[in-house]
Amino acid sequence: MGDTDLFSPLTLRDLEIPNRIAVSPMCQYSCDTDGLPTEWHRVHLGSRAVGGAGIVMTEATAVEPRGRITRHDLGIWDDEQASALEPTTEFIRDQGSVPAIQLAHAGHKASKRKPWEGNDPITPKEGGWEVLSPSPEAYPPFGEERPEMRKATGEDIQDVVDAYREAAERSLSAGFEIAEVHAAHGYLLHEFLSPVTNQREDDYGGSFENRTRFVREVTAAVREVWPDDKPVFVRISGTDWLDDGPESWDVEQSARLAADLAELGADLIDVSSGGLHPDQDATGGPNFQVPLAERVDEGGDIAVGAVGGITEPKQADAIVRNGRADLVLVGREFLRDPYFGLRAADELAGEEAPAKWPIQYRRGVR
Ligand SMILES: Cc1cc2nc3c(=O)[nH]c(=O)nc-3n(C[C@H](O)[C@H](O)[C@H](O)COP(=O)(O)O)c2cc1C
Repeated sequence: MGDTDLFSPLTLRDLEIPNRIAVSPMCQYSCDTDGLPTEWHRVHLGSRAVGGAGIVMTEATAVEPRGRITRHDLGIWDDEQASALEPTTEFIRDQGSVPAIQLAHAGHKASKRKPWEGNDPITPKEGGWEVLSPSPEAYPPFGEERPEMRKATGEDIQDVVDAYREAAERSLSAGFEIAEVHAAHGYLLHEFLSPVTNQREDDYGGSFENRTRFVREVTAAVREVWPDDKPVFVRISGTDWLDDGPESWDVEQSARLAADLAELGADLIDVSSGGLHPDQDATGGPNFQVPLAERVDEGGDIAVGAVGGITEPKQADAIVRNGRADLVLVGREFLRDPYFGLRAADELAGEEAPAKWPIQYRRGVR
């Protein structure tokens, strides 16, 4: 078929993903305050499935209420939320795409306002909630302006592991075929990984093994309930971008973690970066995180996804063709153009394009 690798299927376990383009998880802040999906989610995610993406992934979906960034995040901590997601997964599958869910806990970045309402923390006085962190002492002093921060106890950690396991079970019942553990962007699991934010002296802090324990436990818990024939992804920040600062999380540790997660049954590492610290020295621009994915790929026997600044079909195709990543995740370009997948198929494969415009739309495109 045509001269493209972007439209070759990707098989992970027994799941065949029709092409290498995934909709990157993107918060929509469009729930009421109950974590239930609204029509917005169904139309938003459904449109991208119509638009030719091989995988359509939900936004960060909270495994427990205190793990929400805002009150308006999607949640999967109860069965009603799982049932309400079913029509969306069914629609995505009907379009020939694969429904995926990102399972998340925001850690200390929880209890905030929506971006278009200022993005700032909701204080206890304003009805904000207590947020979890590995080491509150690692953060600059905060007073009235911040939510209350709680140092995660051993029991809290176990509760979150259990919440991930139960959220994965619910996700399966909702019809998702891929579960992604969100361990990036300065949220709870990443906070434990990075020595910048993890200053614990117990089994969850200090050495590489201790700092990675929480994400390994969460991945193992998800894998325990996720069927053997379906893949589990983990999104990490490949680096904190603090190479000139204090000891931090970097790409060498990411490659090592990828190998450990592969042993636990993870199938793909989705390599993003940063989000942990305001002093991060990140560049941005086209393909800026792809070298991180390449380095993680060298770490172990596991597929990798590249994300960040991927906006053009030929660019995405070249990443796969040159073996730089197995999957390309596209975020903002899918906000600008829900049909990015179909446009890429037309541009790269022409008449032979395997991703087809829906029959209802053909008079518009042929
Ligand atoms: C509106 C918006 C919401 C986002 N929400 C999430 C999220 O829920 N989970 C996540 O891992 N990344 C999130 N991201 C990051 C994207 O998934 C992606 O990694 C980032 O935008 C870089 O890719 P891009 O250059 O293709 O947009 C979000 C990005 C945007 C623009």
